[in-house]
Amino acid sequence: MPEPLKLAIAGLGRMGAIHALHASELARDTGVCELVAFADVDVERGRRLSADWGLHIPIFESIEELAKSGVCEAAVIVTPTDRHRENATALIAEGNRVLLEKPLTGILEADRDFAAELDRNHPDALMLAFQRRFDEPLKYAKQLIESGAIGRVFKIYSALEDSNPAPNGYRSGGILSDMSIHNVDEVLWLSGRMPSRALSIGSRIYSHALTTSEEDFDDALLYLWFGEDLAAQIQVGRNHVSGYRVETLVFGQEGQIHVGHFDQQPFVVVVEAYGRRGNTRPLARQTFAMRDYKHPLPEFVDRFGAAYKSELAAFIECCSTGVRFPVTHHDAVRAQEVIAAGMSAIIGPEQAACVC
Ligand SMILES: NC(=O)c1ccc[n+]([C@@H]2O[C@H](COP(=O)([O-])OP(=O)(O)OC[C@H]3O[C@@H](n4cnc5c(N)ncnc54)[C@H](O)[C@@H]3O)[C@@H](O)[C@H]2O)c1
Repeated sequence: MPEPLKLAIAGLGRMGAIHALHASELARDTGVCELVAFADVDVERGRRLSADWGLHIPIFESIEELAKSGVCEAAVIVTPTDRHRENATALIAEGNRVLLEKPLTGILEADRDFAAELDRNHPDALMLAFQRRFDEPLKYAKQLIESGAIGRVFKIYSALEDSNPAPNGYRSGGILSDMSIHNVDEVLWLSGRMPSRALSIGSRIYSHALTTSEEDFDDALLYLWFGEDLAAQIQVGRNHVSGYRVETLVFGQEGQIHVGHFDQQPFVVVVEAYGRRGNTRPLARQTFAMRDYKHPLPEFVDRFGAAYKSELAAFIECCSTGVRFPVTHHDAVRAQEVIAAGMSAIIGPEQAACVC
């Protein structure tokens, strides 16, 4: 068995605390890694987590200090999106491999520039955290598609709706690049294709008024055309007040697959495939129990907790065995290209036709 990977977590907010929890569990239960350091400008956060879990590890106030210290060989970067590039660059320059939370930088030109720099100097240093690729219900749906269970796929609908506004102070960079990047990557991954055309529509309806987070829209749609035989509809929002909604529907000539639903207790995710109208029995049905962490956590953790942990385990395994990462900066750039195209053709109420 390889030596435990010396792993640090950089950024300990909503998402960083979850990666830190999973890293400490993997260290304790499997020995594949050792959690060796935290870094956060708010060092108190690191102190609190260390105290909660009985850890005695250094807590750095900056990622540059963490990088220079040489204590880690790999790191999970969970800082605000506008810090991703400088933080990843600092750690990679000191020889670390990094798991970077989505998106790469959130801006297409910067994404392309950063990806080109990585390709030139460190092509295998970065794994992108698109956790849906490690989600058991979605992996099962992909398996059903590939087995031909619903025939040729012609439409994918993917929805992601938060029940609350973005937290105060959260720097999203725009609802499409912040949220729909998950759905876009999912659609590209499920279909294995890139769209040729994109259009988006955005609205400020309700929750933007309840937060100091500055964001362009609180509701948006992204419509994608893949030639003439496939379309995708992506819906994102922060207004689903009754609970987190994560839902995917895949339409095929012989039936359709439904993953997840809106549920106020999202610990069971159902994947169902139905044949054409008139067939009473489902083609396939499986339920997946999500992990209940037994204490209040951001709603995305209830739905994707197990996927985040599998993603981290895959990152650690690739680092320890030298195998290339399954998801990289190239996937992030592809998803951002789709979003940027959609955003360049965005329609708000001002551009919509007048009902006179
Ligand atoms: N994959 C997912 O489902 C998912 C879910 C939520 C957030 N995210 C991503 O995770 C990242 C963080 O989001 P969040 O919601 O946890 O944000 P957050 O604001 O809750 O946490 C950010 C943390 O980074 C720290 N920080 C800020 N600047 C720093 C710097 N220069 N150096 C070190 N630490 C710094 C802050 O003190 C804070 O603890 C974002 O890029 C976001 O897109 C991903």
